Amino acid sequence: MLPKRRRARVASPSAAPSSSARFPGVTIYLAEPHMGRSRQAFLTRLAVSKGFRVLNAYSPEVTHVVMEGTSAEEAVCWQERKMSVLPPGCTRPAVLDISWFTESMAAGQPVPVECRHRLEVAVPKKKMPSPAWMLPYACQRPTPLVHHNASLSEALETLAEAAGFDGSEGRQIAFYRAASVLKALPSPVTALSQLQGLPHFGEHSCRVVQELLEHGVCDEVERVRLSERYQTMKLFTQIFGVGVRTADQWYRKGLRTLADLREESQRLTQQQKAGLQHHQDLSAPILRSDVEALQQEVEAAVRQALPGATVTLAGGFRRGKLQGHDVDFLITHPQEGQEAGLLPRVMCYLKKQGLVLYHQHQHSQQGDLTQQSHTMDAFERSFCIFRLPQPPGAAVGGAQKPCYAWKAVRVDLVVAPISQFPFALLGWTGSKHFERELRRFSRKERGLCLNSHGLFDPEQTVFHVASEEDIFRLLDLEYLPPELRNA
Ligand code: UTP
Ligand code: MN
Repeated sequence: MLPKRRRARVASPSAAPSSSARFPGVTIYLAEPHMGRSRQAFLTRLAVSKGFRVLNAYSPEVTHVVMEGTSAEEAVCWQERKMSVLPPGCTRPAVLDISWFTESMAAGQPVPVECRHRLEVAVPKKKMPSPAWMLPYACQRPTPLVHHNASLSEALETLAEAAGFDGSEGRQIAFYRAASVLKALPSPVTALSQLQGLPHFGEHSCRVVQELLEHGVCDEVERVRLSERYQTMKLFTQIFGVGVRTADQWYRKGLRTLADLREESQRLTQQQKAGLQHHQDLSAPILRSDVEALQQEVEAAVRQALPGATVTLAGGFRRGKLQGHDVDFLITHPQEGQEAGLLPRVMCYLKKQGLVLYHQHQHSQQGDLTQQSHTMDAFERSFCIFRLPQPPGAAVGGAQKPCYAWKAVRVDLVVAPISQFPFALLGWTGSKHFERELRRFSRKERGLCLNSHGLFDPEQTVFHVASEEDIFRLLDLEYLPPELRNA
């Protein structure tokens, strides 16, 4: 059930210029970072009523960008970001303090731009400490899959993972943030000085990078990687159905190997048993060719169960990854409500095809949709292990099953009603860090709650959207396609 709608607000993401502009050389854009949406809307109405042309979205036509409560550094950062997405050769707009705007409103016409109105500092580009204007949230900047600082980011991610294994969430996120900044840099870091001014680089992360730059290895990272604790926790948490808490309990009990776990099999859940049983296959990476074969099977089953229903690939493979640990598919139907009851029929069909080694059905739990946690949502879903036929000659499974022509793969099937589909797709595309940052950005910078079901303001107003692009627009974020969400 959807939360009660007090005011259903329909998103109107496109720019809406005023109809009759009295001052042809002047096109205003009110940049919102510190202004707030309602103030932006108020000022827009005011300016339009006085005959000014105001755009709701930034474009090359804008001549005057107006900001409120913004520092010169932030203004420069904003301008660099906007200019980088415009065609080369575009003239730069004036970036102005709100004082120019209020004086112009009082005068009933645009007042001449004076030095004191200007926010941007005329710094030649190469004098800027180049990455200093990197934006602080991962959802504000493009992060490609292949980047320039893999060994540095991997080292920091190892420390993040180890902190997570020890329940230190703060440290874990701090390392992930620093790693993610490195992934977004336009070139390799070769000197420590290049970290100056970057967001999220604390003393600890700097020290790790420094050691790596100077010696090629970092003692602390190596120690963690070789430690029994890290290796065991990594082994256990990679098992289907095992989270950090369970892995930690097992570790404390002295368990260290898969053989140890098999001896305790009466204590395992069905999911964990299946995970252990197929462990060898499931720990091998899934390839793109596997994904394509799987998608065809799932599509056939969905078509058969409900004509018109669609299957969309999400997760790492949608972000362009060539390998993954599982495959995530979202299922929906263009007519709201039609998707109900679909999943059992899909699973039944797949079982008849002999494709299902294990599955666990989770019913839809849609109560208060604003209260869904970041990691778990309330969609109807099936956690599966599929038996995926392999082309002849594919080496699968090693010596244990020399003549098998299939391998076990982890698949998640998630059903979303069409009204929530863009949110589900955005939430299930990841990366996990990107999602965490997007939700934090929504909460802290926009005062809105974002999850895989919707975007909600404190009065639980529901925003209606038709696409992921609409969600970025509602958050006033530059749209990032999936392949640039590898934060
Ligand atoms: P995955 O864990 O499948 O990660 O979650 P991935 O990026 O596809 O990488 P692989 O599979 O390890 O190669 C994909 C996205 O789905 C969200 C995650 O937060 C992530 O953004 N997700 C996953 C959920 O929203 N809920 C879940 O229960 C599981
Ligand atoms: Mn995945």
